[in-house]
Amino acid sequence: MSNSHNNNDQPVARLAIFASGAGSNTQKIIDHFRGDNIIHTALIVSNKPKAGVLDIAQRENIPVLIIEKERFFADGYVPVLKEKKIDWIILAGFLWKIPVPLIEAFPEHIINIHPALLPNYGGKGMYGHFVHEAVIAAGEKESGITIHYVDEHFDHGKTIFQAKCPVEATDTPDTLARKIHELEHYYYPTTIRALIAKNEIPVP
Ligand code: GAR
Repeated sequence: MSNSHNNNDQPVARLAIFASGAGSNTQKIIDHFRGDNIIHTALIVSNKPKAGVLDIAQRENIPVLIIEKERFFADGYVPVLKEKKIDWIILAGFLWKIPVPLIEAFPEHIINIHPALLPNYGGKGMYGHFVHEAVIAAGEKESGITIHYVDEHFDHGKTIFQAKCPVEATDTPDTLARKIHELEHYYYPTTIRALIAKNEIPVP
C-alpha cells in the first residue's frame, strides 16, 4: 500500500487505470469506486493523446499521464507512479506490453482484462474486434472474459476470474463485443474490489 489513509485511518488503495481506447471499462470502474472508502481511482494513463478515455478523465476530474514509448520501455514510468502513490495498475484496453521494470515494481498488483477465454485467442495483436472475429471464424460456441495478473508476456499471467457467454450462429463481431462488454462492465469492477479487499472473487 502507498500509505494513503482515509478519515477513519484505513489504508486507501490508489488505482492507476491504463487504457488506449474508448474507455467504457474505465468509466465503469470509476463509477463503481466513486466515493468509495478504501479504493480510489487516482490516475488515468494512456499512450494515445486522443483516446476517448481522456475525455472521461477530464469529465471525471481525474489526473492523466500521457506516456511515451521510449521512456515506458526504459523505466516503465515507475518513479512517476510511485510519486503518485499508486498501489494497483488496472489495464483496461491498454495495448502496449508491460515492461519488466513495471512488473517488478508492482508484483501481483497489475491486472488485465481480456475479451476471450484465455489461453485461447490471446497474444500480440489479439485485442478488441480481432479477438471476436477470430472466435467467430473458428466456430466457437462460447466466448467470455478473462481477468488475470500481468506478466512479461501478452495475455499470459495467472487467471483470477473468467465468465462465459454463448456465441450464436447469428453473432457478428459487433454483437459478440456487446455481450463481452456487458460481462466486463459488471465483473471487472467487482473482481477488482474482491481482490483488493481480499474478499471472495465473484462467482459467474
Ligand atoms: C475491452 O473489451 C478489453 O477486454 C479489450 O479492449 C476493450 C477495451 O474497451 N482488451 C484487450 O483486447 C486486451 N488484449 P473499452 O476501451 O471500451 O474499455
